[in-house]
Amino acid sequence: MPADLQIAIDGPAASGKTTVARLLAQRLGVVYVDTGAMYRALAHAALQTQTDVDNENALVRLFDQQIRVSLDREAQLGFRVFWKEKELGQDELDSPVVTAVVSIVAAHPLVREAMVREQRRIAAEGSVVMAGRDIGTVVLPKASCKIFLTASVAARVQRRRVQLDNSGVDVSAHELTQEIEERDRLDETRKISPLAKASDAHVIDSSTLTADQVVGEICALLG
Ligand code: DC
Repeated sequence: MPADLQIAIDGPAASGKTTVARLLAQRLGVVYVDTGAMYRALAHAALQTQTDVDNENALVRLFDQQIRVSLDREAQLGFRVFWKEKELGQDELDSPVVTAVVSIVAAHPLVREAMVREQRRIAAEGSVVMAGRDIGTVVLPKASCKIFLTASVAARVQRRRVQLDNSGVDVSAHELTQEIEERDRLDETRKISPLAKASDAHVIDSSTLTADQVVGEICALLG
């Protein structure tokens, strides 16, 4: 394995990229970061500190001063993300209030600049599997392997429902469809680094595949 293996896994909300990225990193014995969790941590911090999510400069300050990521394969999420000194868990990162504002937070150019800087610093530490929306296009354009993971809206709604159900949150398929379609629209139409497939990315449609099968396909690509 080359010393600086960088694997970029991009795709829309609930396409299965974080599950796949984490499994793949475990299989390869490298670290994994879900960059969506970094945007979510910032959205959480903004809500907790009553920072206006339209105030780009205040968000950048909040990110620089209060959000920290640490690479730790033993962590529950596969890495650790802190707001001040508090480690954030899945419940806080995936809460409906965070989900409702995270696309607004992620659309600010200066916020993205700060995130990309930190993500590149993390990737420079060694081999990594990084999941997000702009990893193959912007963060790591020279990644050794780029995957664009898609899935039908119906499959993504179903996955999200199971995830939320496991956390005791009851949301209808109709509401989830609307939420996913709206997030796709915001992610794909924002001016700065919209969700897009890198020209050299491999597309995998995971609608009818298990995460293990997707990981198998990626390992086959890695050779
Ligand atoms: O993957 P997710 O649902 O946890 O991502 C949360 C939000 O962050 C989503 O609205 C898109 C945004 N995001 C982004 O713009 N760029 C990334 N690299 C990762 C996530």
